[in-house]
Amino acid sequence: MNTPKSVRIVEVGPRDGLQNEKHAVSTQIKIQLISQLADAGLKNIEAGSFVSPKWVPQMAGSDEVFKLINAEIQPAHPDALFSALTPNEFGVDRAIECGLKEVAVFAAASEQFSQKNINCSILESLERFMPVITKAQSANIRVRGYVSCVLGCPYEGQVSATLVAKITQQLLDMGCYEVSLGDTIGVGTPASTSILLNELLDSIPTDKLAVHMHDTYGQALANILISLQMGISVVDSAVAGLGGCPYAKGASGNVASEDLVYMLNGMGIEHGVDIDKLLLAGNTISAALNRSNGSKFASANLSMA
Ligand code: HMG
Ligand code: MG
Repeated sequence: MNTPKSVRIVEVGPRDGLQNEKHAVSTQIKIQLISQLADAGLKNIEAGSFVSPKWVPQMAGSDEVFKLINAEIQPAHPDALFSALTPNEFGVDRAIECGLKEVAVFAAASEQFSQKNINCSILESLERFMPVITKAQSANIRVRGYVSCVLGCPYEGQVSATLVAKITQQLLDMGCYEVSLGDTIGVGTPASTSILLNELLDSIPTDKLAVHMHDTYGQALANILISLQMGISVVDSAVAGLGGCPYAKGASGNVASEDLVYMLNGMGIEHGVDIDKLLLAGNTISAALNRSNGSKFASANLSMA
């Protein structure tokens, strides 16, 4: 099978996961989670968002989270990178103040989703990101891009692959080092994923793309497998399958990191993550949130225990 030798996993549970919890999670619990994820060997952890606390109150304490990461987690994990979402200049100012090395801007391939998520059109969002990227880069912060709704939108339904390719290219041209393709509501299938990637890979190299598959319809791992076979080697995932998007009603969490790691192990693909330590992180946060662990790997281990 034609797949990459190694995969870089971007763990988004502390952000994409916890942003969608009904109740705000304490800073102490967030720090415990991020610390356990770093202990498990994850090197790319999206740990918060510098967005408006009125829009996403769950991420309001991100400044404190990053200050504690710098003091308590980074010294033990010098090669780990902790990133955050920054929708505007205010967000990037907060990121600079907290000493981040990576931030992410997030656009959408659907006008209605863009309005609901960041209160502006797609074009306005790209214009708004320009000074964000410039400011970040001049502070030596690298910038990742996201495009949401790449395989469907909760408000508009079908989304054009040509539009996804155009926005992805614009984000790369603006200075994003890679763009993560978000199936925000998890409606994609291997067929639609392959059609989308075929369109993008016509003009964009595989090493500029990542996939971010929510698992609402149980298709995330299948979509990731197709993406790997098409040469993508960066995959976003959330421990315990945490989360969703506050502006995409009914969307469930990302593919569970434990299930992704299990699949990569079975395929002999390197990733650098210790699955037992990851399981501990997933079980600990699930217990703290008083919910069951959304990973199949965790359920299997529970039934075998
Ligand atoms: P707006 O209301 O148009 O912004 O929101 P504004 O500039 O008019 O400001 C309104 C208020 O927010 C002001 O406060 C600002 O100071 C404050 P007030 O004067 O009323 O007291 N504010 C901020 N505060 C802290 N940090 C900031 C900030 N910016 C403004 N950075 C805005 C526009 C973009 C700010 C808002 O819509 C927003 O924060 N949206 C974030 C939504 C979000 O986080 N969604 C979830 C993440 S995206 C996602 O999950 C998808 C992804 O996972 C990929 C996928 O699955 O597809 C990435
Ligand atoms: Mg997401």
